[in-house]
Amino acid sequence: MGFTLPFLNGASRKKRGQIISVDLGSRTTKAVLLERRGEIYALLRYALLDAPIFDKKISADQLANHLHAVAAALGGTTKYVSVAVGLGDSVVRQVELPQIPLDEMRLVLKMNHKNYLQQDLPNHTYDCYIIPPRTQEAEPKKGVPPAVAGLGTGIITPAKFKVLVAAAKQQLAADFMHAAGTAGLVADALVPSLVGPINAFEKSLPESFAKETVALVDIGFKHTSVCVLDRGELATIRTVNIGGDQLTAGLSEAMNVSYAEAEGIKVGMAPEVETALMTQVLPLGREIRASLDFFEHQQDRPVTEVYLSGGSTRSEMIVQMLHSELLVECKTWNPTTFLQLALPGQQAVEIDHVGPQLTVAIGTALAAY
Ligand SMILES: Nc1ncnc2c1ncn2[C@@H]1O[C@H](COP(=O)(O)OP(=O)(O)OP(=O)(O)O)[C@@H](O)[C@H]1O
Ligand SMILES: [Mg+2]
Repeated sequence: MGFTLPFLNGASRKKRGQIISVDLGSRTTKAVLLERRGEIYALLRYALLDAPIFDKKISADQLANHLHAVAAALGGTTKYVSVAVGLGDSVVRQVELPQIPLDEMRLVLKMNHKNYLQQDLPNHTYDCYIIPPRTQEAEPKKGVPPAVAGLGTGIITPAKFKVLVAAAKQQLAADFMHAAGTAGLVADALVPSLVGPINAFEKSLPESFAKETVALVDIGFKHTSVCVLDRGELATIRTVNIGGDQLTAGLSEAMNVSYAEAEGIKVGMAPEVETALMTQVLPLGREIRASLDFFEHQQDRPVTEVYLSGGSTRSEMIVQMLHSELLVECKTWNPTTFLQLALPGQQAVEIDHVGPQLTVAIGTALAAY
């Protein structure tokens, strides 16, 4: 099993009828059961479970138990599972690489990751996704590295590919495969969670994906990811080390109450805590704004909309606060619009509410299909 990050149809994977996709969030595990029905996908079930432990790394045994519980919650009708690994466990970067086959790219990265990724990543496994060029003429031929003449230099310079690179510890991949096996499942793919919202967005809002310049912001527990999509192309990826955890911790300190109480207050959205919460949301807003500024200054194009996902965006108050800090339209979105909904009773009722939190799980299933 490679470390898979194809956005869509990127890899020649076996086509499964059904697949379980698990977003191993650091606070909450989100999982979906999808079924391929010809050209469409049906959402058969979803599940939200507390992460086994959220302050430490979990062991392979705990992971196995957890995956087993997830599969049971989804009805246990398939053994194929794909997992999204979080920002703490994977590194995703966009780099330029020579036009060489994928296998060679992985090798080049393994040998030269310090150069390409600007960090030391011992014992990591790599995967690459070649970002399709925007214009047709730049379309590369598969596997054959064409060369273009360096203008006026007489030197032949090979053209480069823009490549999305993901790295994860080899041990993590091994643990995951082992845990899946112990749980009676078959590991199908490991996908960096960052890719999830992009895949789901492309399918849910294809028009906006293709034509607009937008940011996808997923606010998690410890981290927030910011991806700017510029007319169908991934332009920048940033991660911010603030999430729902810091909002609660900050509130707990400011109000001199326990973490659990602060969590209750935050989720309860009592109007009298608005000022205290605003103080906590501000730094997050500023960091997101800085990521947008980075893109806007570089490309001289405005980001016109921010699409939010993640647990914290279930709070209308937090979304409003981000809006006033970012000065650009902020909205939550539903990643299930392109799916045929075949959910059992209560889940069918609640899906609209839960949808925004399933973004990564749904996008991960698409990467694996
Ligand atoms: N209604 C709500 N209002 C405000 N915050 C909420 C609400 N519901 C959940 N949260 C917050 O969402 C956070 C969890 O979000 P999420 O499930 O997206 O994180 P995660 O995926 O587990 O983390 P990560 O992506 O960093 O690994 C928690 O901090 C929780 O307090
Ligand atoms: Mg998450």
